[in-house]
Amino acid sequence: MAGVRLELESLAKSYGGVPALRGVSLSVGDGKLVAVVGPSGCGKSTLLSLVAGLDAPDAGVIRIDGRVVNDLSPRERDVAMVFQSYALYPHMTVRRNLAFPLDVAGVPRREIAARVEEVAALLGLAPLLDRRPAALSGGQRQRVALGRALVRRPKVFLLDEPLSNLDAALRLGVRAELKKLHERLGATFVYVTHDQAEAMTLADRIAVLRDGALEQVGTPREIYGAPATAFVARFVGTPPVNLVAPEVLGLPEGPIDVALRPEDLRVSREAGAAGLAARVWLVEPMGSETWVTVERAGARLVARCEAAFDAPPGAPVRLGFDPRRLQRFERETGRRVVPDRPG
Ligand SMILES: Nc1ncnc2c1ncn2[C@@H]1O[C@H](COP(=O)(O)OP(=O)(O)OP(=O)(O)O)[C@@H](O)[C@H]1O
Ligand SMILES: [Mg+2]
Repeated sequence: MAGVRLELESLAKSYGGVPALRGVSLSVGDGKLVAVVGPSGCGKSTLLSLVAGLDAPDAGVIRIDGRVVNDLSPRERDVAMVFQSYALYPHMTVRRNLAFPLDVAGVPRREIAARVEEVAALLGLAPLLDRRPAALSGGQRQRVALGRALVRRPKVFLLDEPLSNLDAALRLGVRAELKKLHERLGATFVYVTHDQAEAMTLADRIAVLRDGALEQVGTPREIYGAPATAFVARFVGTPPVNLVAPEVLGLPEGPIDVALRPEDLRVSREAGAAGLAARVWLVEPMGSETWVTVERAGARLVARCEAAFDAPPGAPVRLGFDPRRLQRFERETGRRVVPDRPG
């Protein structure tokens, strides 16, 4: 199955005079997966509803495969949406729920059976095919809802937090399967999540939405390594980036904040070590590494340290970092300060 290009141009939508989207322009390449991330209420589900045709924009253009679809019905758009609050047909078995969209589309019976089997195997639903939704857990229902979109093999998949009801282990498993599936299908995906790790691992590009406007669109590496704003910097990465006044890191004061990733902050307990003085506030062993939060000049900073690191609260430590790893953001606007190039 081939994907298509999806283009959004200056999409705007208000509800009762309150803007939910303020002119969003986004282009999703043929067969690409774009993850839309942002805090609750920033307009993610609204964006998907407009693309699916469940709601009409106040302004702007939606193009699928080069064709303006603003006036097409959801069915005519050949998109499949998995809703955040998915609804299954309660009187139908899982098998019927999965087969139903294909039945409606007039797909031959043998092909339906084959696609349902394939999707059921992919999502671990094979043992549940003869049950009804009432006899499924929340996570199982969510997988059926996802399967119902997958069997249709549409040109564009719109997924709204499709893994949010899965437990942690299943979530990682289905996430990996989805990535492989996307590679295999070559279909175009818009994937909404508030889980930045999901966005980082799955997406070709990430679109960060804030208050109905795009803050940045970029590859996962760009979003992580060169965030356009302090908001984007804080939104990706676990534990979150350290964003502090420059004085905290021994730099001259200024109308900026500096950001340093936890992996770029070194914490040393050795007596006489060079660096900035700080005190341990919290030590969190994660198994493969240990997260150490320190206090310095009234601020808290977190560092990813080796697994064996240990220290009692209050223990004196020294902090080190490579100044080239620092990022600077205007305090007032949050915008990244791009260093002046010499010459
Ligand atoms: N049908 C509606 N009527 C009125 N306001 C709405 C409607 N749908 C969404 N909104 C408002 O529009 C804004 C964006 O909502 P939306 O559902 O798109 O957010 P979201 O990013 O999907 O959030 P979440 O992560 O919580 O799902 C919110 O302020 C919401 O209250
Ligand atoms: Mg939503």
